Amino acid sequence: MHKLSIKVAVLEHELSELRVLLEREAGVLFDGPTEMLTARVAGFLESRHLTSATDLIKLIQSSETESEALLESLLDGETGFFRNLAAFEAFEKKVLPELHDRKSADSPCCFRIWSAGCSTGEEAYSIAVSVCQGMSGAGGWNIHIVASDIRRQALAIARRGLYSEQAIVHVPPNLIKAYFSKIGQHFLVKPRLRNLVTFTPMNLVRPVYIGRFDCIFCMDVLRHFSMAQRIALVQRLHLYLQPGGYLLLGLGDKLPAVDPGFQIHTDGGFTVYQKPLSIAAKSGR
Ligand SMILES: C[S@@+](CC[C@H](N)C(=O)[O-])C[C@H]1O[C@@H](n2cnc3c(N)ncnc32)[C@H](O)[C@@H]1O
Repeated sequence: MHKLSIKVAVLEHELSELRVLLEREAGVLFDGPTEMLTARVAGFLESRHLTSATDLIKLIQSSETESEALLESLLDGETGFFRNLAAFEAFEKKVLPELHDRKSADSPCCFRIWSAGCSTGEEAYSIAVSVCQGMSGAGGWNIHIVASDIRRQALAIARRGLYSEQAIVHVPPNLIKAYFSKIGQHFLVKPRLRNLVTFTPMNLVRPVYIGRFDCIFCMDVLRHFSMAQRIALVQRLHLYLQPGGYLLLGLGDKLPAVDPGFQIHTDGGFTVYQKPLSIAAKSGR
């Protein structure tokens, strides 16, 4: 038994039951240190004036809002602008130029990107900066970045687009000047960037179809998922890509052994996964 405060205790079997429910609900396997999960669950119990985790289990089974609120308090939302530099280098030097060349013949020229598991928005806005910088000559292009997360509070922060000086510390000064307005001690994303991004709540375990994408960023999400949910998600991401589209994963994320058929390109230590342009290309992997 893990005793956390005078009032609240979380029993082993309650914790196991919660783990199963959370994995089913959000795909995430809470298999880290028991103390950490116990402490967070206890904090949530106290916030709801509950005295046992069994009551919490009943609550989240009967209320989607409470289930979402619990996830909000448990999920790791670590993020940052250009957090994974190698990924952005691959995006700017390989993915964008290749897609630009291939799609230039299309009319109208559309370019759709998805930031799946976008947390508080830094990743989506970083993608928007890279696109603006890399496609400055692409006037007339219809560029749309969809950014989704299961946590609505994180999305509210993302939509606001107001970040601290600390949050933008890795953004080069010329890009800060071009894409942010200083407001007091904070930095607000300018409309030219904000207008490219649509934030929407979505549970990646139960995604709704929102069209096909030329590129999907799903960074630092897969590694938190159970193997079964990881396999299912990668298959869905493959399905949601246009032929020739790219999937970018975080450094700690691994494609499961059940690979739906990606071509693998590794450069500068970073790997991007491409859906083959055609069946013939797939057989030539
Ligand atoms: C560690 S953060 C990574 C954020 C960002 N992609 C990055 O790399 O900077 C993982 C994000 O995935 C989200 N997430 C976890 N499970 C999810 C699910 N089932 N559906 C949608 N988002 C999920 C979390 O809420 C969190 O914001």
